[in-house]
Amino acid sequence: MPLPSPVPPVPLSGPAAAVTSLARPGPPAPSGEELTLVPLHQRPELLEACAELLGEEWGKSRASRLHSLQRSSDAFPACLLLLRSRGPSDSPATPRQGPCELVGHVRLSRVLSRPHDLFVESVVVARALRGRGYGRRLMEAAEQWARARGFRCLRLTTHDKQHFYAHLGYVLGEPVQSVAFLSPAISSEVLRLFSAPSGAAAATSTRPWVPAVPPPPPPPLAVPPPPPPPTVIWARGVLAEGGEQQSLLQTPHRDAKGLPIFWMKKDI
Ligand SMILES: CC(C)(COP(=O)(O)OP(=O)(O)OC[C@H]1O[C@@H](n2cnc3c(N)ncnc32)[C@H](O)[C@@H]1OP(=O)(O)O)[C@@H](O)C(=O)NCCC(=O)NCCS
Repeated sequence: MPLPSPVPPVPLSGPAAAVTSLARPGPPAPSGEELTLVPLHQRPELLEACAELLGEEWGKSRASRLHSLQRSSDAFPACLLLLRSRGPSDSPATPRQGPCELVGHVRLSRVLSRPHDLFVESVVVARALRGRGYGRRLMEAAEQWARARGFRCLRLTTHDKQHFYAHLGYVLGEPVQSVAFLSPAISSEVLRLFSAPSGAAAATSTRPWVPAVPPPPPPPLAVPPPPPPPTVIWARGVLAEGGEQQSLLQTPHRDAKGLPIFWMKKDI
């Protein structure tokens, strides 16, 4: 089987398109409110607020959260913020002048060997604002943002929000490998190595294939060890058990901890 090639570049649109102003359709926002989707790297002053928003939902260390958020870039992964602003606006074309509030966050990463796909994760709406249509607006805005940059499919995994995503048009899909940080310093050969499960054991495993842990310390006088795997890449290659059915109620796929996950995708 041919090995997947590294992700080729997809042209990014210019700065003018970096901020997505959310036009209808979608549920009506409260009057006097404007929603925009903005890459975090264009609003670094919102870094702390964003870390807090994610931290409320997923208990990762603040330092590691900040570290990962700080890597947001147009070259992916891109952390996108849904902001709402109130206040006066002279015309629909003029941004509102009032204070901005962070409503939600989504992260988009490239997908190995699928140049037109993006992997969606860390979808979250501020707790106090849930159930008011912002989750839908966040996902629709992310689709619009991705489409404007030439991408055609969004993919994601979820433990328990499969009905939410299905409601928004996602369907069950097959596992893929996303690339969180695609550094130009990483050779295509390394990417290939980390994109394919090795050996027959991986092909029958129900566990995700993940990059190998760093090798044990070498014995004295041993030949130099191979370079450690690039920690900037993580893989989500999860293999299904043969024959097990996939539905919104049951999944054959498991995450790295062995918990059931649903793979979903949407053509955009
Ligand atoms: C999932 C989440 C982003 C949804 O945001 P939200 O603002 O509450 O969702 P919305 O109000 O925009 O809901 C949009 C639509 O989905 C529906 N919906 C929301 N949650 C749903 C669920 N769990 N199951 C089925 N439908 C759901 C709503 O009824 C609404 O339908 P409508 O547009 O036809 O009226 C939000 O609940 C959240 O941040 N949860 C915690 C983090 C999380 O679990 N993220 C997902 C990780 S995979």
